[in-house]
Amino acid sequence: MAVRPVLKMGEPLLRQVAAPVQRFDAQLAALVADMNDTMRALSGAGIAAPQIGVSVRVVIFEVASNPRYPDVSPIPYTVLINPDLAPLGEEQEEGWEGCLSVPGMRGLVPRFRKLRYRGFDIEGAPIDRTVEGFHARVVQHEVDHLDGILYPQRVRDLRNFGFEEALIGQMRPMRAMGAAQSPTSVSP
Ligand code: NI
Repeated sequence: MAVRPVLKMGEPLLRQVAAPVQRFDAQLAALVADMNDTMRALSGAGIAAPQIGVSVRVVIFEVASNPRYPDVSPIPYTVLINPDLAPLGEEQEEGWEGCLSVPGMRGLVPRFRKLRYRGFDIEGAPIDRTVEGFHARVVQHEVDHLDGILYPQRVRDLRNFGFEEALIGQMRPMRAMGAAQSPTSVSP
């Protein structure tokens, strides 16, 4: 178990389509342990394997409940392997996002409001959930990493993309995700 360096936007590996997991073995468990250590060390709400340099289809995420941010629903710690997303309905909503691979930045990103996701946990047991809102946003953000997509590619209007320190006060509602869960943001 170790905190691993996080690749930053521009690294070719972040643009690759990641390969499916074939074996639920000790090597996979070690990868997930490193992802977990890295996510927690950086106070992220999620991380994808390619962000620590391993191009396989594994994401993890968690949002703890925090009484200071009652509008942010907690998300249980989830290891999601070989995920499959299916939007439910066409409704999208815009929300502020950040990313451990794009440190210090925030952008306004449209995501499907509601979706069903399926995949496998670390032991290979199936996961099948229907979620909405921030949970749905986090999953879409993380799974994008597996297809070589970083959130800035999804920002519709680049006027809504910039440095977090400069955007403070403009990000409403304040449900940003990305690095460092500051008093003003919640992040994967
Ligand atoms: Ni990210």
